[in-house]
Amino acid sequence: MQKIVNAIANLAAEQDPQAPLCAYIYDLEQLKNHASAMMAALPSNCQLYYAAKANPEAEVLQVLAPIVDGVEAASGGELNWIHQCQPQVPLIFGGPGKLVSELSQAIDLDVDAIHVESLTELQRITALCRQKQRHCRILLRMNISLEGIAETRLTMGGKPTPFGIDAAELDTAMAIVRDIPTLAGKPLVELLGFHFHLMSHQLDVGRHLALMKLYFSTYKKWCQKYSLNLPMLNVGGGIGVNYSDPQQIFDWKHFCMELETLIKQNQMEAVNIRFECGRFVTAAMGYYVMQVLDIKKNHGQWFAIGHGGTHHFRTPAAQAHDHPFFVLAAKDIGIELEQAETKITTTNLKSELVTIVGQLCTPKDVLATQQYVERLAVDDYLVFSHAGAYAWNISHQNFLMHAPPQRFFIRE
Ligand SMILES: Cc1ncc(COP(=O)(O)O)c(C=O)c1O
Repeated sequence: MQKIVNAIANLAAEQDPQAPLCAYIYDLEQLKNHASAMMAALPSNCQLYYAAKANPEAEVLQVLAPIVDGVEAASGGELNWIHQCQPQVPLIFGGPGKLVSELSQAIDLDVDAIHVESLTELQRITALCRQKQRHCRILLRMNISLEGIAETRLTMGGKPTPFGIDAAELDTAMAIVRDIPTLAGKPLVELLGFHFHLMSHQLDVGRHLALMKLYFSTYKKWCQKYSLNLPMLNVGGGIGVNYSDPQQIFDWKHFCMELETLIKQNQMEAVNIRFECGRFVTAAMGYYVMQVLDIKKNHGQWFAIGHGGTHHFRTPAAQAHDHPFFVLAAKDIGIELEQAETKITTTNLKSELVTIVGQLCTPKDVLATQQYVERLAVDDYLVFSHAGAYAWNISHQNFLMHAPPQRFFIRE
C-alpha cells in the first residue's frame, strides 16, 4: 500500500493546485507477481489466456504477454490493438456478433482459435476459409444447462442469453463441420474442441470446480457421441473479485490443486484445458484516485463530490455495488496544499456516513453510498482499490466532456 501512497504523493507534488488530482494508478509489479503466481499454480495440461477486455492498456499487455499463454480478443479493434502492442503473443478470438471483416482479420492473423458463437458464424468462417484457401481452427462456444450449479451475479449461460450455441443445435453444427472440405489433407476449418463461459464473478472455489466438472463431463459425452478426439477445452474466465469484502480473495492456488485431482478423476490429462480470465488477473493492481472537490448535506445526507466519477470509473455503477475506498489527507502523504482559496470555509466530516459521487449531472454518478468515514475534508484523496479491471475502458468517457484522468504506472 505504501507504493500507492508514494505514487499519489508524487502525482500530488507535481499537481496544479487549481486542478485537483484525478488519476488511475496501476501497480505493474503487483500485476507481474500475481499473473506469475496464477501461471505457476496451473496443472500441467492447463493454459491461461488473458481476456484483454478487462484492461487492454498497452503497459498491461506488455507485462502480461511474456507471462501468460496468450491473449483473448473480443472484437476486431481488440485484435488489432493487441497484435499491434504485442505482435508475438498468441491470440484467440471470441465474442458475439463478429463482423465478416473481423472473422477475415482473425483468419489472416492466424489466431490460435476462433470461438464460434452461432451456426451462421460457423458458415461464414467456412465460406471465408474457402474463399481465401486458408486454414483456421475453431472451438464451438456452447450454452449448456447449469444442472443445478448456483448462478453468480453475472451469468452468461444455462438460460436464454445471446451467448454461444444452444446444445440442441449441436447436431446441426457437427453436420456442418463434417461437410467442411479439406485443403492439403487437413480440414479448412479444424474443430479443436468446445468453449464454455457460463458465468463471471465467481467467488466460490467449490462452485467453480463443480462448473469445471460439468464442462469435463459434457466435453466427454459429446466426444463420445460424435466419435471425436478433440484436443482442447476452453473453460472461459469468470473468477470474481469480492468488492464488498476485498480481503476475501478467491483461492486460486487451492482451486488449481483441486482441479488437478478433478482432471485425473475425469481422465482429462490429454486435453489442453484453457482458461481465459480477465477480472481476476488485473482488478487488484488498479486504483482510481479522486480528490474531494466539495462536501455538502442534502436532505439530511452527506455527499462528497470527487474530481472524476463514473465517466472514468463505471465499475460500481455497472455492478451496482459500493466500491471499496480509503481516504488519504494531504498531510498523510507529506503534502502541503497551497491554499488557493483562503477565504472559503469548507466542511470537515468526522465519524459520518457519506455518499461518494462524481461530477456528472445524473443521480447515477455514485461510487459508494452512505459509507462510514472517520474524517473527510475537501482536498482529501479518495482512493478506490480494485479498479484495474472493467473500469476505465467500460466507462462512458465522453459524457459531459470532462478531462480524462491521469494514468500512472508503478514499475519495478
Ligand atoms: C467469453 C468470455 N471469456 C472470458 C471473459 C472474461 O471473464 P472474467 O473477466 O470474468 O474472467 C468474458 C467476460 O465477459 C467472456 O465473455
